[in-house]
Amino acid sequence: MARPHIEPFVDRDVGFKKMTMAGMPNGMQYKTLSMDTDNGAVTMTVQYDAGFKQPPGFCYNEMEIFVQEGSLKYGDQVCVKGHYLFLPAGKAMPAMSSDEGALCLVFYNNGAPSFEESDANHDACDEKNFASVNSYDGLDWTGNALFPATAPGCLLKMLHYDEKTHGMTFLYCMVPGFWQDNISYHDCAEEAYHIWGDSWMMQFGTLPTGGYFWRPAYINHGCFASERGILAIGRTDGDLHNHFHHDPYSSPQENAERAAARLARQKPAMYKWILTQDHNHVPHDFENPHDHVDPMEADTAQVIQPDGSHWP
Ligand SMILES: [Fe+2]
Repeated sequence: MARPHIEPFVDRDVGFKKMTMAGMPNGMQYKTLSMDTDNGAVTMTVQYDAGFKQPPGFCYNEMEIFVQEGSLKYGDQVCVKGHYLFLPAGKAMPAMSSDEGALCLVFYNNGAPSFEESDANHDACDEKNFASVNSYDGLDWTGNALFPATAPGCLLKMLHYDEKTHGMTFLYCMVPGFWQDNISYHDCAEEAYHIWGDSWMMQFGTLPTGGYFWRPAYINHGCFASERGILAIGRTDGDLHNHFHHDPYSSPQENAERAAARLARQKPAMYKWILTQDHNHVPHDFENPHDHVDPMEADTAQVIQPDGSHWP
């Protein structure tokens, strides 16, 4: 994902803009939190106005909606705060509306916002990962299973897990008094939004309610602390391995080198195999022969093109 490092950013510091993109419904106001300028993928705080109405239709790329305040009607279902929707590319949404208005987080993961009026899924839609759940009432907190583990007191509710990429979307909390005295980085991009509460990081200071970051791979973050606790939503575009260490001065390049050295130690056959292939080699997955697994083009995953082709 070619988004720049944005950290810290607080959406309360900027005003809403009226959504005027061609094809998008009326009655939406937005604040851009981060954007991929290559493909238009964007994360936004969205205020659906009272009286908002959207006919049935789909988005050409993967979309996630999290309701923070108010209510959003999704067909016959009234989605109140804590409700989470995962909409695969081309998944037809029923008519949507909001009587009282709704404050949401909206993620367009792999391409620009789009809306095509339709009663049916796009032909290329794979809807198996569709999810609609109230994350506050319908899911339990679990100790997080990240590896290596964070300090105790950081709990998760998994909202979406991509079994191919291991990318995930999750609600997380830090309990009051949480602290962790090491530094972390990952091999994937990581984004998060504070629904409520303050937390502190050594590099970026205090992130309050409405705080947000988009953090590319290999960037140091931590130590961490939260005096009164936080509730937040996070998302990654790949496997969230915690590369912990204690060197506050290591650069992203040095962090990537260290991660590569670890991979060479832990999976030497695969590391050697990759090194000995041509630079332009795109690995082929015989179980998923239609996937075009090119990390240089990974941003285009899960986008349905208007001509009906599906990438990958
Ligand atoms: Fe992290």
